[in-house]
Amino acid sequence: MQSFNSLVKTLIGLDYSDAHPRILSANKYVNIRKNKKYSNFAKLLPRLGGFKMGMIKYLLIVSAVSLLALQAQANTQSFMNSTESVVDNIIDFSNNNESHPSIDNVSARECSGCHGQIYKQWEGSIHAQSTALKDPIHGLFYNMVVGNPRVEGVRMGKKKNKYPVCLQCHSPAAAKEGKTQLNAKKSFSEGVNCIACHALTEFKGTKKKGGGLNLGMKAYKYSSNQLQGSKGTSLLHQEFGKGGVANNPDLFRTSKACLGCHDQRNNSKKVPLCQTGGEIMTAGGSTTCQSCHMPVIDGISNHTMVGGHSAKMVGKGLAMTISATKISSVLQVKVNATNLLPHNFPTGTPFRNFFITVTALDSSGSVLWQSSKTHPIKDDKKAMFMYIIGGDDNKPAPPPKATKVLGDTRLKPNETRVLNYEIPADGVVIVVAKAYYDLLLPPLKDKFYSKLPRRLLESKEIAKAIVVVK
Ligand code: HEC
Ligand code: HEC
Ligand code: HEC
Ligand code: HEC
Ligand code: HEC
Repeated sequence: MQSFNSLVKTLIGLDYSDAHPRILSANKYVNIRKNKKYSNFAKLLPRLGGFKMGMIKYLLIVSAVSLLALQAQANTQSFMNSTESVVDNIIDFSNNNESHPSIDNVSARECSGCHGQIYKQWEGSIHAQSTALKDPIHGLFYNMVVGNPRVEGVRMGKKKNKYPVCLQCHSPAAAKEGKTQLNAKKSFSEGVNCIACHALTEFKGTKKKGGGLNLGMKAYKYSSNQLQGSKGTSLLHQEFGKGGVANNPDLFRTSKACLGCHDQRNNSKKVPLCQTGGEIMTAGGSTTCQSCHMPVIDGISNHTMVGGHSAKMVGKGLAMTISATKISSVLQVKVNATNLLPHNFPTGTPFRNFFITVTALDSSGSVLWQSSKTHPIKDDKKAMFMYIIGGDDNKPAPPPKATKVLGDTRLKPNETRVLNYEIPADGVVIVVAKAYYDLLLPPLKDKFYSKLPRRLLESKEIAKAIVVVK
C-alpha cells in the first residue's frame, strides 16, 4: 500500500510531512485506528485541522482521505498483517478511546500512543521520578519530614495539621485533590506528568501579597477540562475535556512554565532552599529555561529536561582553563572556572556541589603534588563550590532543620573564579585540573551511604584542563 504521505502528495501536490514533522507518528496512529474501525473517518477530520492549513487545503485533504479510505479498505488484509508490530510500538493504545470529562487525572500513558517520542523522553526524566515512590533522594527526605507516601491523610508541620507542601510540586495531581496516598492513582505516582504542565493556564507569581510564597500548583491557575500548549493549532484531543489544545504561548514559550515550581522554595524557617528563578532574576537574565532545557531536536521540544542527574548537561555549564608560570623554583598555577549559565553553578537543590582538584605530574606520569589529599571540603576549601545552611550553633544542618545561610561559594551567573596554587616546580611536566560534581555534600553522602544507589553517590567528572610546563 502506498504510504499516506505520498498518496496525499500525489493527490493534492502537498508534501504533508513538511507541514509537520510529527506527522509520521500521527500517521501510524491514523492507520491503526483505520484498521480497527476503518469506516470511521470522522475521527480523522479534526486531526487534520491541527496542521496550520488553509480551508482549501483542508477540504482537499478531506477528499484525499476519502479516496484513501477506498484504497485502505482494498488493502486491509495486507495491512492487517503488518499492523501487529506497529501496535506493539504504541503503548496502551486502547486507552486513547476513553473519554475524560476532567483532565486532572489523565495519565501520561494516555498521551503516549500519539506522542510516543515525547512520552519516552518524559518517562526517563526526573520529572517522571519526582515522587517519594520513585526518587530515592527525595524519598529519604519525604519520609523524614512528611511521612509515608503510601498512606492517605498524612499531615506535616509542628502540629501535624498541614497538607504536605512538597506535593504541590512533586505530585501536582495529588495536590489538586488534597490527597497523600501517592500509589492510589497513576496520575499521582507519575509526579510531574504531562497534565501537570499541559493544564496550566496562568502563572500568578510565587510572591504572595502579604509575604510568603505560592508554591507549585498554588502559583498557577490551571484548567480541568482543556489541554494547554504553545501553539494552539491542534483541534484534536476530543477525549480530553472539551477537546483541543488552548493557545498559551505566553506561558509555554516563557520561563513562566517552570517558575511556579523552580523559582524559590524556603524551609519552614524561611531559609531559601532552591532558588533557580531568583538567581536568574538577580542576574537580570532574560533567556528562557526552555532554550537550554527543552532544545528543539528533530522538530520536537525535548522533554528529557536534564539537570543535575546528567553529568553531560552539568559539564555544559562550566568552562575551565589552567595556566602555569615558572618563577625560579616555584610554579604559579592559575585555574579559571567560569559559570556559563544565567543561574548559579550549581543551581537547585541546596546540597548540589562541585569541587576542583589540581595535580602535578612528572615525565613518567607519577604524582608529585596534589591540591587535596582527602577532599577539598576538608583541605582546600577555596576549591569547594557549595551552599551551606545551618543551625543557630553555626554548624551545617540539613534543609528541614536549617535556620540560616552559613555560606554560598557556588559560582554566580556568569562569574569567573580564579584559584591560585604555588607548586614546587622541580620535575613537574604536566599540571591537570579536574572538576567533579556531586548531587550530595560529603556529610550527607556518608549519612545515606547504605540507603542510596551508587550512581547517586559517585562524584562525576565534569571538566578537565591540562597545562604542559615549559
Ligand atoms: C515540565 C513541564 C512539561 C511536562 C511535564 C510536559 N511538557 Fe510538553 N511541553 C512543555 C512546554 C513548556 C512546551 C513548549 C515548548 C516550547 O514551545 O518551547 C511543551 C510542548 C509540548 C508539545 C508541543 C510540540 C513540541 O514539540 O513543542 C507536545 C505535543 C507536548 N509538549 C506533549 C507532552 C506530553 C505528551 C507530555 C507527557 C508525556 C508532556 N508534554 C510533558 C512542558 C511540559
Ligand atoms: C489521538 C492521538 C493523540 C493523543 C491521544 C494525544 N495527542 Fe496531543 N496531538 C496529537 C496530534 C496529531 C497533534 C498535532 C501535531 C502536533 O502538533 O504535534 C497533537 C498536538 C499536541 C500539542 C501541541 C499543540 C499546541 O498547541 O501546543 C500538545 C501540547 C499536545 N498534543 C498534548 C497532548 C497531551 C498532554 C496528551 C495526553 C493528555 C495528548 N496530547 C494526547 C495527537 C494526540
Ligand atoms: C509542577 C512543578 C514543576 C514544573 C511546572 C516544572 N518542574 Fe522541573 N522539576 C520539578 C520537580 C519536583 C523536580 C525534582 C524532582 C526530583 O528530583 O525529585 C524537577 C526537576 C527539574 C530538573 C532537574 C533534573 C535533574 O537532572 O535533576 C530540571 C532541569 C527541570 N526540572 C526543568 C524544568 C523546566 C525547564 C521546566 C519548565 C519548562 C520545569 N522544570 C517545570 C517540578 C516542576
Ligand atoms: C544557558 C542555559 C540554561 C538556561 C537559560 C537555564 N538553565 Fe538550568 N541548567 C543549565 C545547565 C547547563 C545545568 C547543569 C548545571 C547546574 O546544575 O547548574 C542546569 C541545571 C538546572 C537544574 C538542575 C538543578 C539540580 O538540582 O539538579 C534546574 C532545576 C534548572 N537548571 C532549572 C532551570 C530553570 C527553571 C531555568 C529558567 C528559569 C533554567 N534552568 C535556565 C542550563 C541552563
Ligand atoms: C516549589 C516547589 C517545591 C516544593 C514545595 C518542594 N520541592 Fe523538592 N524540589 C523541587 C524542585 C524543582 C527540585 C529539583 C530541582 C532543583 O534542584 O531545584 C526539588 C528537589 C528536591 C530534592 C532533591 C532530589 C534529588 O534528586 O536530589 C529533595 C530531597 C526534595 N526536593 C525534597 C522536598 C521535600 C521533602 C519537600 C516538602 C517538605 C519539597 N521538596 C517541596 C521543588 C519543590
